[in-house]
Amino acid sequence: MKRTTWSNKEAVLGVTGSIAAYKACELASRLTELGVKVTPVLTESAAQLVGPASFEGITGQRAVTGMFEPLQNPEIEHIAVATRADLFLIAPATANVLAKAAHGMANDWLSTTLLATRAPILFAPAMNTNMYTHPATQANIATLRARGCHFVGPDNGRLACKTVGPGRLIDPGIILETALILMHSKKDLAGKRVLITSGGTHEPMDPVRYIGNRSSGKMGRALAFEALLRGASVSVVSGPCEAEMPHGADVIHAETAREMAVAVAEQLPSADVFVAAAAVADYRPAELSAGKRKRTGEAISITLEENPDILAGAGSQRRDGQVIVGFAAETSDAVAEGRRKLERKGAQILVANRVGAAGSGFGAEQLEAWLLDDSGRADELGRVRKDTVAQMVFDAVAERLP
Ligand code: CTP
Repeated sequence: MKRTTWSNKEAVLGVTGSIAAYKACELASRLTELGVKVTPVLTESAAQLVGPASFEGITGQRAVTGMFEPLQNPEIEHIAVATRADLFLIAPATANVLAKAAHGMANDWLSTTLLATRAPILFAPAMNTNMYTHPATQANIATLRARGCHFVGPDNGRLACKTVGPGRLIDPGIILETALILMHSKKDLAGKRVLITSGGTHEPMDPVRYIGNRSSGKMGRALAFEALLRGASVSVVSGPCEAEMPHGADVIHAETAREMAVAVAEQLPSADVFVAAAAVADYRPAELSAGKRKRTGEAISITLEENPDILAGAGSQRRDGQVIVGFAAETSDAVAEGRRKLERKGAQILVANRVGAAGSGFGAEQLEAWLLDDSGRADELGRVRKDTVAQMVFDAVAERLP
């Protein structure tokens, strides 16, 4: 199995003169950590705010700060970098760089190279709210978008100029994920709609208590991000959990199994792929008491009634060409139990995983898993990271899509 590697990718990180320039260090660091070769390019004003030495230390590459520095290679350097790069990421992007790019100006290294490259360009704007909402800036953004440039953010929030509004650099984690989606070359899910259930459910028994489980939502998150990398449009019906879904996914929140079932029923007809990764409560308290249940001094019992099985429901209505994937968390006999579940619930693919062992399953980064399918395949994946499981799931899904 070939894991996604970023070490064959090269990105130009253009840093321009916004107070948020220091946040570009985190971006440089996270891209470099993944293996991406990052060429930092600082405009003159950016270099007044953060030192090129920081970027050189983080990326191990020479930071470009001026057009006429001594060349390191005999090629015309800005053209060479512009041609090699898989992505131009401008973060933070000021109103000035947007204006220059929109009008094709080329009076420094960054603006010149932006004209010379044919790589995808991603801008993460950061500026004062009035500057951002100014018709000139908005017109420049519209021009750049129409030419195929990508944008992420800005966020709303408190700005360095002490005002509150749009203009804050969006979270570097979101910029990073957007950059990775643009750099990922395998787009075998382009044009497909992927629907995922994720997280756990809370089944209320009174206004303050519920029955829940320990699902972290990390598996659902890994699945959503992998599908986005591969070009799908992604909807996630998420139960309560700690994991935040990737920025590009459309998230529908559901509290209980029944709410989750309703949301899935609405989305399912237009989905090409359905992945049931949520840990759905099989039972809910039969009665929801209107007031808080009081201590009685004696043992109490709660009657539970069955919840709908969302995966089995989807399996029974599956239309031709739709691919349905389930998960099975088992404490023993994972393969045999998984196969029974796959058949009973009408899934084509199922990840059986062993829970209960330390460091794997709920909340952990890894799973001890097997990949089963309806043609009898049972691949032992061993102890694998959740992002690797997600990759293998969509490899198997892509093989089946029309
Ligand atoms: N599932 C579902 N709706 C439910 C219960 C489970 O969609 N009400 C889905 C899960 O998202 C998972 C698969 O069914 O993809 C198997 O979940 P699991 O909890 O292992 O199976 P159960 O049917 O609950 O079986 P059991 O608890 O008896 O092992």
